[in-house]
Amino acid sequence: MDERMISGELQEEDAAVEYSLRPETLAQYIGQSKTKENLSIFIEAAKMRNEPLDHVLLYGPPGLGKTTLASIIANEMGVQFRATSGPAVERAGDLAAILSSLNPGDVLFIDEIHRLPRSVEEVLYSAMEDFFIDIVIGSGSSARSVRLDLPPFTLVGATTRAGLLTAPLRDRFGVLCRLEYYETKDLCAIVTRTADIFHVGIQEDAAIEIARRSRGTPRIANRLLKRVRDIAQVDGEDLISLETTRKALKMLQVDAMGLDHIDHKFLLAIIDKFRGGPVGLDTIAATIGEESQTIEDVYEPFLLQIGFIQRTPRGRIVTPLAYEHFNREVPKIE
Ligand code: ADE
Repeated sequence: MDERMISGELQEEDAAVEYSLRPETLAQYIGQSKTKENLSIFIEAAKMRNEPLDHVLLYGPPGLGKTTLASIIANEMGVQFRATSGPAVERAGDLAAILSSLNPGDVLFIDEIHRLPRSVEEVLYSAMEDFFIDIVIGSGSSARSVRLDLPPFTLVGATTRAGLLTAPLRDRFGVLCRLEYYETKDLCAIVTRTADIFHVGIQEDAAIEIARRSRGTPRIANRLLKRVRDIAQVDGEDLISLETTRKALKMLQVDAMGLDHIDHKFLLAIIDKFRGGPVGLDTIAATIGEESQTIEDVYEPFLLQIGFIQRTPRGRIVTPLAYEHFNREVPKIE
Protein backbone atom coordinates (compact mmCIF):
# COMPACT_ATOMS: atom_id res chain seq x y z
CA MET A 1 0.00 0.00 0.00
CA ASP A 2 1.09 3.52 -0.70
CA GLU A 3 2.68 5.47 2.15
CA ARG A 4 0.20 8.08 3.04
CA MET A 5 1.25 11.37 4.53
CA ILE A 6 -2.21 12.20 5.70
CA SER A 7 -3.36 8.73 6.59
CA GLY A 8 -5.43 8.67 9.74
CA GLU A 9 -3.59 5.50 10.71
CA LEU A 10 -1.00 5.69 13.42
CA GLN A 11 2.47 5.25 11.99
CA GLU A 12 5.37 3.92 14.01
CA GLU A 13 7.39 7.07 13.55
CA ASP A 14 4.92 9.22 15.44
CA ALA A 15 3.73 6.76 18.07
CA ALA A 16 6.14 7.94 20.75
CA VAL A 17 5.80 11.63 20.08
CA GLU A 18 2.03 11.31 19.79
CA TYR A 19 1.95 9.86 23.25
CA SER A 20 3.66 12.91 24.67
CA LEU A 21 1.17 15.18 22.88
CA ARG A 22 -1.82 13.50 24.43
CA PRO A 23 -3.97 15.55 26.75
CA GLU A 24 -4.39 13.90 30.13
CA THR A 25 -7.67 15.35 31.35
CA LEU A 26 -11.05 16.07 29.79
CA ALA A 27 -10.44 19.76 30.40
CA GLN A 28 -7.28 19.64 28.24
CA TYR A 29 -9.02 17.65 25.51
CA ILE A 30 -10.10 19.92 22.67
CA GLY A 31 -13.27 19.31 20.60
CA GLN A 32 -15.86 16.47 20.75
CA SER A 33 -17.89 18.61 23.14
CA LYS A 34 -20.92 16.27 23.29
CA THR A 35 -18.79 13.24 24.12
CA LYS A 36 -16.81 15.19 26.71
CA GLU A 37 -19.96 16.51 28.35
CA ASN A 38 -21.51 13.03 28.56
CA LEU A 39 -18.36 11.38 29.82
CA SER A 40 -17.73 13.97 32.49
CA ILE A 41 -21.22 13.41 33.95
CA PHE A 42 -20.97 9.62 33.87
CA ILE A 43 -17.48 9.72 35.40
CA GLU A 44 -18.58 12.05 38.17
CA ALA A 45 -21.63 9.92 38.98
CA ALA A 46 -19.61 6.68 39.02
CA LYS A 47 -17.07 8.28 41.34
CA MET A 48 -19.82 9.51 43.68
CA ARG A 49 -21.20 5.97 43.88
CA ASN A 50 -17.72 4.55 44.28
CA GLU A 51 -18.34 2.21 41.36
CA PRO A 52 -16.40 1.54 38.19
CA LEU A 53 -17.64 3.46 35.15
CA ASP A 54 -20.00 1.51 32.89
CA HIS A 55 -18.40 0.04 29.75
CA VAL A 56 -17.77 2.61 27.01
CA LEU A 57 -17.72 2.13 23.24
CA LEU A 58 -15.88 4.80 21.25
CA TYR A 59 -16.41 4.67 17.51
CA GLY A 60 -15.51 6.80 14.52
CA PRO A 61 -12.85 7.22 11.83
CA PRO A 62 -9.15 6.71 12.68
CA GLY A 63 -7.12 9.50 14.23
CA LEU A 64 -9.91 11.29 16.11
CA GLY A 65 -8.63 10.49 19.61
CA LYS A 66 -10.24 7.24 20.74
CA THR A 67 -7.13 5.95 22.54
CA THR A 68 -6.53 9.38 24.05
CA LEU A 69 -10.06 9.51 25.43
CA ALA A 70 -9.76 6.01 26.86
CA SER A 71 -6.62 6.95 28.76
CA ILE A 72 -8.27 10.17 29.94
CA ILE A 73 -11.19 8.12 31.29
CA ALA A 74 -8.77 6.03 33.37
CA ASN A 75 -6.99 9.14 34.56
CA GLU A 76 -10.20 10.93 35.54
CA MET A 77 -11.45 7.82 37.36
CA GLY A 78 -8.09 7.58 39.16
CA VAL A 79 -7.44 4.00 38.00
CA GLN A 80 -4.87 2.18 35.91
CA PHE A 81 -5.04 2.08 32.13
CA ARG A 82 -4.39 -1.20 30.35
CA ALA A 83 -4.41 -1.30 26.55
CA THR A 84 -4.57 -4.07 24.00
CA SER A 85 -6.21 -4.62 20.62
CA GLY A 86 -8.67 -7.07 19.06
CA PRO A 87 -6.15 -8.89 16.86
CA ALA A 88 -3.61 -9.12 19.73
CA VAL A 89 -5.95 -11.16 21.93
CA GLU A 90 -5.78 -14.47 20.09
CA ARG A 91 -7.21 -16.92 22.62
CA ALA A 92 -9.67 -16.89 25.48
CA GLY A 93 -6.74 -17.65 27.80
CA ASP A 94 -5.02 -14.40 26.76
CA LEU A 95 -8.10 -12.46 27.75
CA ALA A 96 -8.43 -14.38 31.03
CA ALA A 97 -4.82 -13.48 31.88
CA ILE A 98 -5.39 -9.78 31.22
CA LEU A 99 -8.72 -9.61 33.05
CA SER A 100 -7.52 -11.43 36.14
CA SER A 101 -4.52 -9.13 36.47
CA LEU A 102 -6.64 -5.96 36.69
CA ASN A 103 -7.16 -4.04 39.92
CA PRO A 104 -10.74 -3.21 40.88
CA GLY A 105 -12.05 -0.33 38.77
CA ASP A 106 -9.26 -0.41 36.17
CA VAL A 107 -9.86 0.57 32.56
CA LEU A 108 -9.13 -2.09 29.95
CA PHE A 109 -8.91 -0.53 26.50
CA ILE A 110 -9.41 -2.81 23.49
CA ASP A 111 -8.67 -1.05 20.23
CA GLU A 112 -10.16 -2.46 17.01
CA ILE A 113 -12.52 -4.45 19.16
CA HIS A 114 -14.46 -5.62 16.09
CA ARG A 115 -11.43 -7.77 15.27
CA LEU A 116 -11.55 -9.90 18.44
CA PRO A 117 -11.78 -13.59 17.55
CA ARG A 118 -15.32 -14.85 18.10
CA SER A 119 -14.24 -17.36 20.76
CA VAL A 120 -12.63 -14.53 22.77
CA GLU A 121 -15.59 -12.24 22.29
CA GLU A 122 -17.93 -14.86 23.76
CA VAL A 123 -15.83 -14.99 26.93
CA LEU A 124 -16.06 -11.24 27.20
CA TYR A 125 -19.86 -11.30 27.52
CA SER A 126 -19.99 -12.68 31.07
CA ALA A 127 -16.90 -10.70 32.01
CA MET A 128 -18.62 -7.47 31.02
CA GLU A 129 -21.99 -8.33 32.44
CA ASP A 130 -21.24 -10.07 35.72
CA PHE A 131 -17.45 -9.94 36.14
CA PHE A 132 -16.74 -13.64 35.83
CA ILE A 133 -15.50 -15.97 33.13
CA ASP A 134 -15.86 -19.71 32.65
CA ILE A 135 -12.68 -21.34 31.51
CA VAL A 136 -12.49 -24.88 30.24
CA ILE A 137 -9.68 -26.94 31.73
CA GLY A 138 -8.52 -30.19 30.16
CA SER A 139 -10.06 -31.81 27.10
CA GLY A 140 -12.26 -34.67 26.00
CA SER A 141 -14.08 -36.51 28.81
CA SER A 142 -11.95 -34.90 31.52
CA ALA A 143 -12.75 -31.36 30.39
CA ARG A 144 -14.43 -29.26 33.02
CA SER A 145 -15.41 -25.67 33.34
CA VAL A 146 -14.07 -23.50 36.14
CA ARG A 147 -15.58 -20.18 37.11
CA LEU A 148 -13.11 -17.37 37.64
CA ASP A 149 -14.31 -14.26 39.45
CA LEU A 150 -12.89 -10.99 38.18
CA PRO A 151 -12.40 -7.60 39.74
CA PRO A 152 -15.03 -5.13 38.52
CA PHE A 153 -13.54 -3.17 35.62
CA THR A 154 -14.45 -0.79 32.83
CA LEU A 155 -14.04 -1.97 29.28
CA VAL A 156 -13.41 0.82 26.80
CA GLY A 157 -13.74 -0.55 23.28
CA ALA A 158 -12.81 1.34 20.14
CA THR A 159 -13.76 0.65 16.56
CA THR A 160 -13.78 2.50 13.28
CA ARG A 161 -17.32 1.32 12.63
CA ALA A 162 -19.86 0.32 15.25
CA GLY A 163 -21.74 -1.54 12.52
CA LEU A 164 -18.98 -4.15 12.47
CA LEU A 165 -19.70 -5.19 16.06
CA THR A 166 -21.95 -8.13 16.79
CA ALA A 167 -25.21 -7.16 18.49
CA PRO A 168 -24.48 -9.06 21.76
CA LEU A 169 -21.19 -7.22 22.19
CA ARG A 170 -22.60 -3.82 21.25
CA ASP A 171 -25.49 -4.28 23.68
CA ARG A 172 -23.14 -4.75 26.62
CA PHE A 173 -21.76 -1.22 26.41
CA GLY A 174 -23.64 1.23 28.61
CA VAL A 175 -22.09 4.34 27.06
CA LEU A 176 -21.77 4.80 23.31
CA CYS A 177 -19.77 7.74 21.98
CA ARG A 178 -19.47 8.58 18.32
CA LEU A 179 -16.43 10.71 17.59
CA GLU A 180 -16.94 13.32 14.89
CA TYR A 181 -14.51 14.98 12.52
CA TYR A 182 -13.12 18.11 14.20
CA GLU A 183 -14.01 21.66 13.24
CA THR A 184 -11.25 23.87 11.89
CA LYS A 185 -11.22 26.05 15.01
CA ASP A 186 -10.64 23.01 17.23
CA LEU A 187 -7.90 21.67 14.97
CA CYS A 188 -6.31 25.11 15.00
CA ALA A 189 -6.29 25.04 18.82
CA ILE A 190 -4.72 21.57 18.72
CA VAL A 191 -2.01 22.70 16.26
CA THR A 192 -1.24 25.71 18.47
CA ARG A 193 -1.11 23.51 21.58
CA THR A 194 1.22 21.03 19.85
CA ALA A 195 3.47 23.84 18.59
CA ASP A 196 3.71 25.06 22.19
CA ILE A 197 4.74 21.59 23.36
CA PHE A 198 7.37 21.54 20.57
CA HIS A 199 8.54 25.05 21.60
CA VAL A 200 8.03 26.37 18.07
CA GLY A 201 6.21 29.55 17.17
CA ILE A 202 3.53 29.49 14.48
CA GLN A 203 1.55 32.37 13.01
CA GLU A 204 -2.19 32.14 13.41
CA ASP A 205 -2.89 32.07 9.66
CA ALA A 206 -0.39 29.22 9.29
CA ALA A 207 -2.07 27.22 12.07
CA ILE A 208 -5.45 27.78 10.41
CA GLU A 209 -4.05 26.60 7.09
CA ILE A 210 -2.81 23.34 8.62
CA ALA A 211 -6.13 22.92 10.43
CA ARG A 212 -8.13 23.45 7.23
CA ARG A 213 -6.13 20.82 5.39
CA SER A 214 -6.13 18.10 8.04
CA ARG A 215 -9.30 16.30 7.06
CA GLY A 216 -10.90 17.01 10.41
CA THR A 217 -8.34 14.75 12.09
CA PRO A 218 -5.96 15.78 14.93
CA ARG A 219 -3.48 13.02 14.13
CA ILE A 220 -3.14 14.40 10.61
CA ALA A 221 -2.91 18.00 11.88
CA ASN A 222 -0.07 17.08 14.23
CA ARG A 223 1.75 15.13 11.54
CA LEU A 224 1.48 17.98 9.05
CA LEU A 225 2.72 20.40 11.71
CA LYS A 226 5.80 18.24 12.24
CA ARG A 227 6.67 18.26 8.55
CA VAL A 228 6.00 22.00 8.25
CA ARG A 229 8.25 22.53 11.26
CA ASP A 230 11.03 20.56 9.53
CA ILE A 231 10.84 22.78 6.49
CA ALA A 232 10.71 25.99 8.54
CA GLN A 233 13.74 24.80 10.46
CA VAL A 234 15.79 24.06 7.34
CA ASP A 235 14.76 27.45 5.95
CA GLY A 236 15.92 29.10 9.19
CA GLU A 237 12.46 30.44 9.98
CA ASP A 238 11.80 31.05 13.70
CA LEU A 239 8.11 31.69 13.49
CA ILE A 240 6.31 29.34 11.08
CA SER A 241 4.67 31.50 8.40
CA LEU A 242 1.74 30.92 6.06
CA GLU A 243 4.09 30.99 3.08
CA THR A 244 6.29 28.23 4.45
CA THR A 245 3.23 26.23 5.44
CA ARG A 246 1.82 26.44 1.92
CA LYS A 247 5.17 25.48 0.44
CA ALA A 248 5.42 22.49 2.77
CA LEU A 249 1.90 21.31 2.05
CA LYS A 250 2.60 21.55 -1.66
CA MET A 251 5.70 19.42 -1.23
CA LEU A 252 3.63 16.92 0.73
CA GLN A 253 1.07 16.82 -2.10
CA VAL A 254 -1.73 17.85 0.20
CA ASP A 255 -4.27 19.84 -1.80
CA ALA A 256 -6.47 22.78 -0.76
CA MET A 257 -9.13 20.48 0.71
CA GLY A 258 -6.54 18.35 2.50
CA LEU A 259 -6.82 15.53 -0.03
CA ASP A 260 -3.68 13.62 -0.98
CA HIS A 261 -2.57 11.50 -3.92
CA ILE A 262 -4.51 8.46 -2.77
CA ASP A 263 -7.77 10.39 -2.55
CA HIS A 264 -6.97 11.76 -6.00
CA LYS A 265 -6.26 8.29 -7.34
CA PHE A 266 -9.52 7.00 -5.88
CA LEU A 267 -11.71 9.85 -7.15
CA LEU A 268 -10.05 10.10 -10.56
CA ALA A 269 -10.35 6.34 -11.10
CA ILE A 270 -14.11 6.61 -10.65
CA ILE A 271 -14.26 9.70 -12.85
CA ASP A 272 -12.00 8.50 -15.66
CA LYS A 273 -12.59 4.76 -15.71
CA PHE A 274 -16.21 4.51 -14.62
CA ARG A 275 -17.69 7.82 -15.82
CA GLY A 276 -18.25 8.90 -12.24
CA GLY A 277 -19.92 5.65 -11.17
CA PRO A 278 -21.86 3.94 -9.79
CA VAL A 279 -19.09 1.42 -9.32
CA GLY A 280 -18.71 -1.30 -6.69
CA LEU A 281 -16.17 -0.88 -3.90
CA ASP A 282 -14.27 -4.08 -4.78
CA THR A 283 -13.96 -2.99 -8.40
CA ILE A 284 -12.45 0.38 -7.44
CA ALA A 285 -10.19 -1.32 -4.91
CA ALA A 286 -8.83 -3.67 -7.57
CA THR A 287 -8.40 -0.79 -10.02
CA ILE A 288 -6.28 1.34 -7.69
CA GLY A 289 -4.57 -1.51 -5.83
CA GLU A 290 -5.85 -0.74 -2.34
CA GLU A 291 -7.79 -2.97 0.03
CA SER A 292 -11.56 -2.53 0.09
CA GLN A 293 -11.57 -2.46 3.88
CA THR A 294 -8.97 0.32 4.01
CA ILE A 295 -10.85 2.36 1.44
CA GLU A 296 -14.07 1.95 3.38
CA ASP A 297 -12.67 2.69 6.84
CA VAL A 298 -9.96 5.24 6.12
CA TYR A 299 -10.47 7.06 2.81
CA GLU A 300 -14.19 7.09 2.24
CA PRO A 301 -15.58 8.52 5.50
CA PHE A 302 -14.04 11.94 4.92
CA LEU A 303 -14.94 12.01 1.21
CA LEU A 304 -18.54 11.17 2.17
CA GLN A 305 -18.49 13.86 4.84
CA ILE A 306 -17.39 16.58 2.42
CA GLY A 307 -19.89 15.34 -0.15
CA PHE A 308 -17.36 14.26 -2.81
CA ILE A 309 -18.79 10.75 -3.05
CA GLN A 310 -22.07 9.05 -2.29
CA ARG A 311 -22.90 5.45 -1.55
CA THR A 312 -25.79 4.08 -3.57
CA PRO A 313 -27.21 0.55 -3.75
CA ARG A 314 -25.39 0.15 -7.09
CA GLY A 315 -22.02 1.38 -5.84
CA ARG A 316 -20.08 4.57 -5.29
CA ILE A 317 -20.67 7.72 -7.31
CA VAL A 318 -18.56 10.85 -7.52
CA THR A 319 -20.61 14.03 -7.03
CA PRO A 320 -20.48 17.26 -9.11
CA LEU A 321 -18.61 18.87 -6.17
CA ALA A 322 -15.69 16.54 -6.75
CA TYR A 323 -15.74 17.19 -10.50
CA GLU A 324 -15.56 20.88 -9.70
CA HIS A 325 -12.60 20.31 -7.38
CA PHE A 326 -10.67 18.76 -10.28
CA ASN A 327 -11.93 21.34 -12.79
CA ARG A 328 -13.68 18.59 -14.70
CA GLU A 329 -17.00 18.72 -16.46
CA VAL A 330 -19.75 16.49 -15.16
CA PRO A 331 -20.52 13.94 -17.92
CA LYS A 332 -23.91 14.31 -19.58
CA ILE A 333 -26.40 11.52 -19.10
CA GLU A 334 -26.90 9.72 -22.41
N1 ADE B 1 -3.96 16.31 20.53
C1 ADE B 1 -4.52 15.43 19.71
N2 ADE B 1 -5.85 15.45 19.85
C2 ADE B 1 -6.15 16.35 20.78
C3 ADE B 1 -7.34 16.83 21.37
N3 ADE B 1 -8.54 16.39 20.99
N4 ADE B 1 -7.25 17.78 22.31
C4 ADE B 1 -6.06 18.25 22.66
N5 ADE B 1 -4.90 17.85 22.14
C5 ADE B 1 -4.93 16.91 21.22
